[in-house]
Amino acid sequence: MLTLATLVFFASHAAARYTADWTSLDSRPLPTWYDEAKVGIFVHWGVFSVPAFESEWFWWRWQGQQPPEQICVDYMKKNYPPDFTYPDFAPGFHAQFFNPGDWADIFKASGAKYVVLTAKHHEGFTNWGSPFSWNWNSVDTGPHRDLVGELGEAVRNRSLHYGLYNSLYEWFNPLYLIDKKNGFKSQQYVTNKLLPELFNMVVRYKPELIWSDGDWEAPDSYWNSTQFLAWLYNDSPVKDTIVTNDRWGAGCYCKHGGYYNCEDKYTPGQLPKHKWEKCQSVDKQSWGYRRNMKTSELMDLPTIIKDLVETVALGGNYLLNVGPTPDGMIPVVFEERLRGIGAWLDVNGEAIYGSKPWRIQRENASLPVWYTSKGKSVYAFITAKPSKPLVELLEPKTSTATKVTILGNTNPLSWAPVRPNGGLVVLLPELPQSPSQVWTIKLDGVQ
Ligand SMILES: *[C@@H]1O[C@H](CO)[C@@H](O)[C@H](O)[C@H]1NC(C)=O
Ligand SMILES: *[C@@H]1O[C@H](CO)[C@@H](O)[C@H](O)[C@H]1NC(C)=O
Ligand SMILES: *[C@@H]1O[C@H](CO)[C@@H](O)[C@H](O)[C@H]1NC(C)=O
Repeated sequence: MLTLATLVFFASHAAARYTADWTSLDSRPLPTWYDEAKVGIFVHWGVFSVPAFESEWFWWRWQGQQPPEQICVDYMKKNYPPDFTYPDFAPGFHAQFFNPGDWADIFKASGAKYVVLTAKHHEGFTNWGSPFSWNWNSVDTGPHRDLVGELGEAVRNRSLHYGLYNSLYEWFNPLYLIDKKNGFKSQQYVTNKLLPELFNMVVRYKPELIWSDGDWEAPDSYWNSTQFLAWLYNDSPVKDTIVTNDRWGAGCYCKHGGYYNCEDKYTPGQLPKHKWEKCQSVDKQSWGYRRNMKTSELMDLPTIIKDLVETVALGGNYLLNVGPTPDGMIPVVFEERLRGIGAWLDVNGEAIYGSKPWRIQRENASLPVWYTSKGKSVYAFITAKPSKPLVELLEPKTSTATKVTILGNTNPLSWAPVRPNGGLVVLLPELPQSPSQVWTIKLDGVQ
């Protein structure tokens, strides 16, 4: 008996270990917190926030790509001495007003359930004291602070999940450039920089999400992605809670990994088969802060809420980005957007958090309508103010037990069937004030 029990024990344990190949890694169930969370905040912050010109790709546009982008070259010529280098921007990353508690309060007020900070973007600068990024990290220079650690503590203190963005490649890392020159047949950068740094980051900060990026120049075998993920899922301190995305090597995205990001701002036309996330930025032109951004270049609140609703209706999570200033402030216009989303979610969050896609995700009867469901309830989002106080929903099948309300108002609404086998017309009340122009009708007792 004992032998059999021992055998069963070992067999089940052996089965629970992942091997360093995509078939095994892709079979791992996504930790449940992630799908339930639905809404996250993305934060792009780094040395690129100092020039804060063009985008977080400024260094590459100025000195990497061939030919360089003329406006970046001109900008440097006009405003800086000729010998000024990109690393000279680092001392200007002061973060003197950075109060992680203030940020976390804003993120909490936005209704988001997770926060993802750039631990290291393509420029290679780490927002923590990485022992593998000597003098190019936020403790040795710039803020002289552990930004990753400080924000993590504040975010978790407000019961939000904490994730870290990490760029696999670094545009100008000399070791990376050697490997690249060798057609990625050598792995000097991966062995001496990337992997030790990633292991260190995970053990030190125990992120619940790794948002991998910068993978596209080399295959996953160069990055040792499957070996890293096998360690992450089997033996790391976050093996049970960690969520990852899909950017682990050229050709990987939308195919392998945890949830799928696919391309930036990916918008599927219909319900994807795999859990996914849309990353989106309030500043339509950049993920990092831009000093010369204009209101007309920002997403307004109704557009953001509609985007969020469409994403969640199609089974996605919505990760909305803001770029803080180098002195550590969330620009107030971003803060205002985030608080606006939070105000909307206060009323309508019931239809978002923990919801599932319904059998139909959208219809265009009298108005564009998106659906979600939770338990026995179905939620219909009206994404424009109706011209009459009537709205027609064609898909739900009603019964005598059907009950209709609008979130934010507990009074039952009057309704009438459209056809004997489906559809209803709802008489709307005076709509609750909503700067976001999106309302949610809750349907109980429908199919
Ligand atoms: C947040 O920090 C405060 C003060 O240190 C503490 O009292 C509280 O329990 C913490 N909350 C969470 C959720 O960790
Ligand atoms: C990286 O992958 C190679 C084989 O491709 C393997 O020999 C090496 O041990 C791996 N390194 C780590 C740290 O997993
Ligand atoms: C609804 O209308 C939009 C925009 O006109 C269109 O792209 C979409 O296919 C329509 N969907 C359905 C279900 O009719």
